[in-house]
Amino acid sequence: MTETALRDKGVVQNTFYVPIAKASDIAVGGMIAITLSAQDLQAQNIPEELQKELQNKELIICNVAGKFYALDRRCTHKNAAMEKGTLDGTILTCPAHCAQFDVRTGQALSNPVPLNGSYKRNGIETFEPIESLRPWKIEINGSGLLVLAVQEILE
Ligand code: FES
Repeated sequence: MTETALRDKGVVQNTFYVPIAKASDIAVGGMIAITLSAQDLQAQNIPEELQKELQNKELIICNVAGKFYALDRRCTHKNAAMEKGTLDGTILTCPAHCAQFDVRTGQALSNPVPLNGSYKRNGIETFEPIESLRPWKIEINGSGLLVLAVQEILE
């Protein structure tokens, strides 16, 4: 459900901001991996339930022409570490089997490339569409720090 739809339904959201990296540490066209630590979350007074949900979460941060995007770090196919792949404009390619994703939305753009050139096994089509990567909201604060915006939803 979108933020506007939640607001219209009278759902209250608290937003917390967790510093995750210096924007200047990620070169244009580059990406880094981060893991949210308990200390990072506690320092921002994030409620315990939300901390449990977020602790040890692995993300990648991509710099596309000075705009930053955050996504789940692990490929939805077989968990490859996406920062070891390649970033070409807004297209992120998995290092393991070359599935591609749009870093702006996390949307899967193509499936893994089969090793033997075919998705057929014993004559049966085994093609399965790959899932998208979860996108995360990030912003740059006044000190040039990238912050992750996480929300607690209170009904
Ligand atoms: S692990 Fe990413 S495409 Fe297979």
